[in-house]
Amino acid sequence: MQSSQDADSSIRLTDTDAALARFSAVQKGYLQDPYIKPFVPRSHLQPPRPPLINIGTFVRATAIDDLVFQWLQTSTNHGTRCQIVSLGAGSDTRFWRIATGAHKDALAAYVEMDFPEITTKKGMAIRKSKELSAVLGDPADVAVAHGGTGLSSPKYHLLPADLRLPPKETLGKVLASGSSPILSPTLPTLLLFECVLVYMSPAESSAVLQWFRDYFSPDGSGVLGSIVYEMFRLQDSFGRVMVQNLKARQVSLPGAAPYPDIASLPGRYLNLGFTSAHALTLKEIRKSYISPAELERISQLELMDEIEELDLVLDHYAITWGLFVPQSASFGAEWGEWGLRVKVAAQAVNSEE
Ligand SMILES: C[S@@+](CC[C@H](N)C(=O)[O-])C[C@H]1O[C@@H](n2cnc3c(N)ncnc32)[C@H](O)[C@@H]1O
Repeated sequence: MQSSQDADSSIRLTDTDAALARFSAVQKGYLQDPYIKPFVPRSHLQPPRPPLINIGTFVRATAIDDLVFQWLQTSTNHGTRCQIVSLGAGSDTRFWRIATGAHKDALAAYVEMDFPEITTKKGMAIRKSKELSAVLGDPADVAVAHGGTGLSSPKYHLLPADLRLPPKETLGKVLASGSSPILSPTLPTLLLFECVLVYMSPAESSAVLQWFRDYFSPDGSGVLGSIVYEMFRLQDSFGRVMVQNLKARQVSLPGAAPYPDIASLPGRYLNLGFTSAHALTLKEIRKSYISPAELERISQLELMDEIEELDLVLDHYAITWGLFVPQSASFGAEWGEWGLRVKVAAQAVNSEE
């Protein structure tokens, strides 16, 4: 019991790493995020991360933002609002960036779930920060929920959950019960799993995805999208070193076992009956899926001469996105366009290879 509690607290500490990495990328000018500071305690004392980590954070954040904004835009194009559920959300600031951005009206609900220790801490940081709490709306409509471990507001919901437990208990009871559930089964809904499923067994993460898939079918008409970002290819020599390093910090990565290569990643969705799925490594994304102007801009920020090392690291992280369109969905076909698109002219890509 003691050691599994220790292992869980080591997993929770990965949120501090993620927040510090984002904070560093913002400080160095790679990303813009006015909302990260309240989530980084003693931010003025935090040393920046090395350029290689900042570039990785930039590539990951830019690609996921691209997919999320396409989701919001496609919903708007169809005259519907959408829902976003971020699982293992940690200190992520995406809700605030969307709710104050160009697509704010596209959002019907934004749900964040994480261990109660993390959601309690996040709820306190939100209530303490004027900038963060102002975005939630009229204070009269914002309530502390779940015995202090959650927050509820008209759009934003912060909910405690251990995602390894049976989804009927963790997801069904809080998201889908009652006469007006937090999550509507008829609105386009995007799931975000940014570096979280890798800490769970493959069976536990499949159960989470399956629960959502079932909620949107067979009689629901909402389209379901999902984005997973995490490490993979851990069986090679670089991967084995990464596993050993994390083991020394009591963190294990059972979720990476079924994914020895990029071709195996879409199976995460296709095996559960999703309509389509794609995966790209961060190395591929940096090379061809980020706009050349942005790459040029970030190349000026810091000296980075370890390109081979950068490629090796980025080759062990991937973004995998999947789409499920129930047959009853009236506007399913248009969602087929959703995905990362090459942003470098084909000739330039070929000549680099
Ligand atoms: C590496 S952090 C990523 C945080 C955030 N998604 C981001 O990208 O900035 C992983 C997060 O997943 C959460 N997590 C891991 N396993 C979980 C589980 N079984 N149930 C709920 N949350 C979990 C951790 O507490 C942590 O906040």
